[in-house]
Amino acid sequence: MPDEMLHLPMVNNVLERHKGSPGALLPILHEIQAGIGYIPDAAVPEIAHALNLSQAEVRGVISFYHDFRSAPAARHILRLCRAESCQSRGAEQLAAQLRERLQLDDHGSSADGNISLRPVYCLGACACSPALELDGQVHARLSAERLDALLDSCLEDA
Ligand code: FES
Repeated sequence: MPDEMLHLPMVNNVLERHKGSPGALLPILHEIQAGIGYIPDAAVPEIAHALNLSQAEVRGVISFYHDFRSAPAARHILRLCRAESCQSRGAEQLAAQLRERLQLDDHGSSADGNISLRPVYCLGACACSPALELDGQVHARLSAERLDALLDSCLEDA
C-alpha cells in the first residue's frame, strides 16, 4: 500500500465531521495538514467527492494558499522577513541572494526535501532588521555574508 494511502482513515474521519458544514474546505485542509503534516495527493479525490467539488477545485485551493503543502515539510524552513522595516534594510537583496543560490522561488522547496523558503511579514525583530527565521530561530542584523553562512550550515547536512 503506498504511504499516502495509510493516511486515508484520518482523512475520512475529518471529512465525516466537516462535510455537512458550509465553507468546510479550508477547515478540512487545515485539519488534515495539522494531523499529517501535508495534504497527500491521495486525499484530493476523497475531499472532492465529500464536498461535491471537482479535484481541480480542491487542488486550486491547496496551491493558492502557500501555507498548504502537498508534500512533507522540508528539513529546514527558512522564512525571510519581507515587511517594511526589513525591506528598507536590504531584505529584497537577501531574497535575490536566496533565489540565486538555491535556484528556488520565494515559496520554493528543494527537490531533495532539504530546504523550503517562505516569506514572512514581520518577525518582531524590526529594530534589528533585516531578519529571518531558520527552523524556528530568529537571526537578525543579517548581511549577505551571514546569510551565506546560514545557508552553508543547511546545505552541509543535506
Ligand atoms: S519588519 Fe522584519 S522583523 Fe519586523
